[in-house]
Amino acid sequence: MRVLGIETSCDETGVAVYDTSRGLLAHALYSQIRLHAEYGGVVPELASRDHVQKLLPMVQKVVAEAGGPESLDGVVYTAGPGLVGALLVGACLGRSLAFAWGVPALGVHHMEGHLLAPMLEDPRPEFPFVALLVSGGHSLLVDVEGVGRYRTLGESIDDAAGEAFDKVAKLLGLGFPGGPIAQRTAETGDAAAIAFPASRMTDGGRDFSFSGIKTSVSLYVKRHGPLSERQTADVAASFQAAVVRMLVRKTIRVCEQTGVKRIVLTGGVAANRPLGEALAAESSAEGIRLHVPPPRLCTDNAAMIAAAGTERLKAGERATLDLNAIPDLVLAQ
Ligand code: KG4
Ligand code: ZN
Repeated sequence: MRVLGIETSCDETGVAVYDTSRGLLAHALYSQIRLHAEYGGVVPELASRDHVQKLLPMVQKVVAEAGGPESLDGVVYTAGPGLVGALLVGACLGRSLAFAWGVPALGVHHMEGHLLAPMLEDPRPEFPFVALLVSGGHSLLVDVEGVGRYRTLGESIDDAAGEAFDKVAKLLGLGFPGGPIAQRTAETGDAAAIAFPASRMTDGGRDFSFSGIKTSVSLYVKRHGPLSERQTADVAASFQAAVVRMLVRKTIRVCEQTGVKRIVLTGGVAANRPLGEALAAESSAEGIRLHVPPPRLCTDNAAMIAAAGTERLKAGERATLDLNAIPDLVLAQ
């Protein structure tokens, strides 16, 4: 089975063709990061308009590379969660093409794409695994028992992890997207310099919260600002260390509680080196195997949507004739 996948849930336009026997045949990804940078965050209306402009030429190119539309057996697209206007661009084009080509279509849950992305890798992680999915839009701990068998064990009750990085970087005047810059800034700082209160971070629950630490950073900046280069680096390092500590602790705890001995770290924040190193150290101390897919599969992309959608099409699922995008789509349990 050969399937075209489309991802337009936020600020990346992604197109991919996945083949069940040959793997990924062609893919393209366009990031709108430069478009949104001057606003310090994603502007939904600009995102939708840019998807409208970029998507069709990308589809034409990728489909041609993969052998043309005649070779396709289906079209899948991200149905949610995400920005409604952005989602609708992918949904409308995906459904229209499927209709014109006479093949089935299906909306895919964006998070299911993230959870199954490591299956595009060789070797694939075996099921079950615990996924720590941390990006600009999501912070989730999911028990992945198999395709379609997901149990959300913990999630952020406020900001997503990447969003917290972005907001703190903004408070420190570092620019957007904040994660990579904050990590770089933190390299010269002292992670023990400031003890940011970690109220919800150290409690026994499985959910995350980033608003407390973000407020602490904001208060610190107000009280001590304007910060010197040294202070800025210390704040970035202390903030990053607190976030890493919380993410690692909760992930390991969930593994202990469920007895699952495999972790997949994914999402844009998986690129954070101190997070990867700390999780690797803790995992190995606990006899847990850690998988970190390559960055191109960790961040938003269409390969993961195509792969996840293919599983669903194979199982016989089909979109009905109505068409919608669901900004707050819930991951089926
Ligand atoms: O998955 P992703 O590319 O896209 C969406 O969430 O849409 O994740 C982007 C997020 C941003 O918030 C960015 O600041 C964060 O991932 N990020 C990082 C790092 N690289 C990207 N956060 C911390 N450290 C990094 N090295
Ligand atoms: Zn995502």
